[in-house]
Amino acid sequence: MKIKSYLKNLTPYPPGKTIDEIRRELGIAGAIYKFNSNENPLGPSPKVIEVLKTYLSEVNHYPEASYIELKKALAKKWEVSPEQVVLGNGSDEVMEFIFKALIEPGDEILISNPSFLMYEKFAEIYGARVKKISLNSDLKHNLPGFLENITEKTKLIFLDHPHNPTGSVLNRKEWESFINSLPEEILLIIDEAYGEFIDKDFIPLGIEFLKKGYKVIILRTFSKAYGLAGLRLGYGITFLELAKVLDSVRQPFNINLFAYKAGLAVLEDKEYFEKSIKIVKEGRKYLTNELTKLGFKVFPSQANFIMVDFGEKADKLYQKLLKKGILIRPLKAYGFSTCLRISIGLPEENEILIENIKNILNG
Ligand SMILES: Cc1ncc(COP(=O)(O)O)c(C=O)c1O
Repeated sequence: MKIKSYLKNLTPYPPGKTIDEIRRELGIAGAIYKFNSNENPLGPSPKVIEVLKTYLSEVNHYPEASYIELKKALAKKWEVSPEQVVLGNGSDEVMEFIFKALIEPGDEILISNPSFLMYEKFAEIYGARVKKISLNSDLKHNLPGFLENITEKTKLIFLDHPHNPTGSVLNRKEWESFINSLPEEILLIIDEAYGEFIDKDFIPLGIEFLKKGYKVIILRTFSKAYGLAGLRLGYGITFLELAKVLDSVRQPFNINLFAYKAGLAVLEDKEYFEKSIKIVKEGRKYLTNELTKLGFKVFPSQANFIMVDFGEKADKLYQKLLKKGILIRPLKAYGFSTCLRISIGLPEENEILIENIKNILNG
């Protein structure tokens, strides 16, 4: 057996800890507060729970392989054709389809430094070279930097928008001057995992550029605003030629029966969706205000999390909160060693977090 040389140093993605892991590792029996994985704090939609119960007795059957009802529902939402929708086991899987279909060893991809870690991970697996472009001084994607680093080997550019872990977004002027300068042969991946939480006016969404004929794919997920992280469901929307090839590199039943039915159910649950968004927008404002009052730098975020610079207190706060069963995300792996990323919780959870931070600071 000979392992591919470029896979030898591959390490697994560092995920946020789950509730069970924390209970096991720290022996905490009481409440656990998860501010570490940007999940939906509301729990699943009641419509999802209902539909999953209905389909429990059908798990001996394969799901319907075309997933046409879900493709149609998403096509209707975005005003595209169902053939333009590519479904994945999480949007991560759609990302992988892009590598499978387009990347040959030695090709280059451009990403921000830092950005969502899976871009790099897939590049390593598929033998692509990664060029990392540092964020600009506002902690936004440095778009001129991307343009300067394009070579004839560049195949893909990834922009997580809002950006993970800062939550920053780009305005129309920034988008337009960038996208108009991109060579046609490069595919731009606009990763809108947190797109639903943008509340600023005048921030363009990727769908607009797709409809104008640019070579883009928009990635969206059911893991955040739709509360289905545990079921794994995401999708891409793109131009027909690419959608066709991405759909052809997937396994026949990549979306499981529950994810398929739950996706359809939650798209119908407007009340749940609106409540999810409201909780994030209000919680984001509350946490930003409270942490700013405590003297910490909170970076403006348009996502369901905030990045906070706690300076030299970061490590102590992280460790002490962890011991109390309050999980937040350290950002050393992203190069922000004094910052922590906090996912927005329910109002009462956010208050508990602030209370605990105050106690630690005073203790
Ligand atoms: C920027 C970004 N893109 C994609 C994903 C993956 O989402 P999914 O759960 O759909 O695979 C995440 C998950 O946290 C993310 O932060």
